[in-house]
Amino acid sequence: MIAKATIEHLDEIIKIENSSFDKPWSLIHFKSDLDKDKISRNWVYLEDNQIIAYVFGWLIENEYHLNNIAVRKDFRGKNIASKLFDFVIADLINLNAETVMLEVSANNLPARKLYESKGFIPVGARKDYYTKGDDAVLYILELKNIGVNK
Ligand SMILES: CC(C)(COP(=O)(O)OP(=O)(O)OC[C@H]1O[C@@H](n2cnc3c(N)ncnc32)[C@H](O)[C@@H]1OP(=O)(O)O)[C@@H](O)C(=O)NCCC(=O)NCCS
Repeated sequence: MIAKATIEHLDEIIKIENSSFDKPWSLIHFKSDLDKDKISRNWVYLEDNQIIAYVFGWLIENEYHLNNIAVRKDFRGKNIASKLFDFVIADLINLNAETVMLEVSANNLPARKLYESKGFIPVGARKDYYTKGDDAVLYILELKNIGVNK
């Protein structure tokens, strides 16, 4: 089941975050995103009441900026990010959003494959964005191009 992320979910989210990233978001970062209730749209994927995955992003005008996504390590490779993505995309189409943007480390091949499988196109790079030698690739998805938009 997919549900809106709330403050009660943050303990479990933080555990997944810390085991997923070299530079994880802090609790304060997650809380401050949840507080931005006018722009932020954040979701958790639950199985047996446990958090398996989450996605955090901001919808500003017609553009969703996907800021964070992770799946619990022992649930990776089971299509969960793919299902979460399909849910987010359907939600955004309902809201008449037009584009989804995100940045990902050029070295993060699983995530890049995931985005490309969803139709994201690389549109630029940001050199040394994360640390020296770790560039970001900027991806964009035009929702009108994915065949389910009106
Ligand atoms: C990237 C991540 C979210 C993928 O989650 P997941 O649930 O394992 O992904 P899925 O099982 O839904 O896979 C969907 C598609 O993504 C791609 N993919 C996912 N994991 C992959 C891997 N290890 N190697 C290559 N491609 C991969 C494939 O195209 C896959 O489609 P396929 O199974 O038909 O080949 C997960 O690896 C993760 O949490 N990584 C750590 C956090 C992270 O890097 N987040 C992105 C930051 S921008």
